[in-house]
Amino acid sequence: MTKTIIIYFLLSGTTKKAAEAIQKTTGADLVALTPTVAYPQSYDAAVARGQTELEHHQLPDLQVTWPDLNQYDTVLLGFPTWWQQPPLIIEAFLQQAKLTNQKIIPFTTSVSTPITDSMAVLRQWVQPTLLGTGWRYQANSSAMTAWLAQNKV
Ligand SMILES: Cc1cc2nc3c(=O)[nH]c(=O)nc-3n(C[C@H](O)[C@H](O)[C@H](O)COP(=O)(O)O)c2cc1C
Repeated sequence: MTKTIIIYFLLSGTTKKAAEAIQKTTGADLVALTPTVAYPQSYDAAVARGQTELEHHQLPDLQVTWPDLNQYDTVLLGFPTWWQQPPLIIEAFLQQAKLTNQKIIPFTTSVSTPITDSMAVLRQWVQPTLLGTGWRYQANSSAMTAWLAQNKV
C-alpha cells in the first residue's frame, strides 16, 4: 500500500477539477501550490506573467503549503499545460521539495497538447528515473483507473 499525495497548480479551475476527481478515486491527500504573489485575477494579465516567467526563466516563489513529503512514496503532480510545458511554478516546486525517494506521476489539463511535451521538460527538471507515466486528464474514469494502475497507485 503506497501513501500518495496530489500536489497541483491551477489558474482557472480545470486542473483543480481533475485533481479532485483523482482524489476521489485514490483517497490521496490533496494540496494546491500557491505562489507567494498570486497570479492576477485577469486572465490576460496572468498569461502575461506566465510568459514573462518563461521568457526570463523566473521561477515564482512558493508558499510551502505541502506537508513533510518524506511520509509519502508517491506524488501525483498536476498542472495546466502552458506553452507546451508545465508552468515554471512546477519547476519551482521541484527545486524546493528536493524529492529523491518519491515516485512523481504527472498529470496535466490542456486544450490539446499531449502530456508527452511536458514529460520532456520534466525530465530536465527532475531525476528522470523518479518520473512515472504521465496522463493528460480526461473525464473518463476507466482511463483514469488504467493510468493509476499503470503507475501502481
Ligand atoms: C498561459 C497559458 C498557456 C497555455 N498553453 C497551452 C498549450 O500550449 N497547449 C494547450 O493545449 N493548452 C494550453 N493552454 C490551455 C490550458 O492548458 C487549459 O485551459 C487548462 O486546462 C487550464 O487549466 P486551469 O483551469 O487549471 O488553469 C494554455 C493556457 C494558458 C493560460
